[in-house]
Amino acid sequence: MKLFKLTSTENGAGGAGLNSRPSQPEPLWRDEFSIFSTDEKYVYRRQFTKFLVLTSFGMFAGNLWILVRSWFYKEPPYPLRAVARTDEIPVGGVKIFQYPGEHDNCILVRTGQDEYVAYSQKCTHLSCAVYYAREANRLECPCHEGYFSIRDGSVLQGPPPRPLPRVVLDRRGDELIATGMEMQPEA
Ligand code: FES
Repeated sequence: MKLFKLTSTENGAGGAGLNSRPSQPEPLWRDEFSIFSTDEKYVYRRQFTKFLVLTSFGMFAGNLWILVRSWFYKEPPYPLRAVARTDEIPVGGVKIFQYPGEHDNCILVRTGQDEYVAYSQKCTHLSCAVYYAREANRLECPCHEGYFSIRDGSVLQGPPPRPLPRVVLDRRGDELIATGMEMQPEA
């Protein structure tokens, strides 16, 4: 298979003298691949620039969408739910109820004649169920002796990293209505 073609100088058709230097034979692959390397580089640069512009535009549009969504998106409101009647539990008594989901156990404690507090029953350490220790007037987790204040759910002792989420209660007549949850920051 012939790999080079003769130029006009070599086959004598160009009229060059005997002393003229023979030019380099053209490799045959140039016939097959007719794109010149400089043009090729130009095409690559143009494509790469187009790619960069499109990618930048895509990222800009994505960030804009996230920004607009964060402006208009609001957390879904918690449901309003009647969780107990005021005369249902005695002072120092406890009632377990579910809020906001049907598997989210919460503990309601009547701490005074007209005082009620409610928290998620799930310990913030490893999710054991807390209970009300009446003598100590605090919520206790039996798993690793984590204790929480009955006043605000803050951690009194033990490994729990955060206070208990508090259930916001609203008294309407003789009913206690749960209206939301307050996630309390790490102490
Ligand atoms: S699970 Fe409550 S203290 Fe560990």
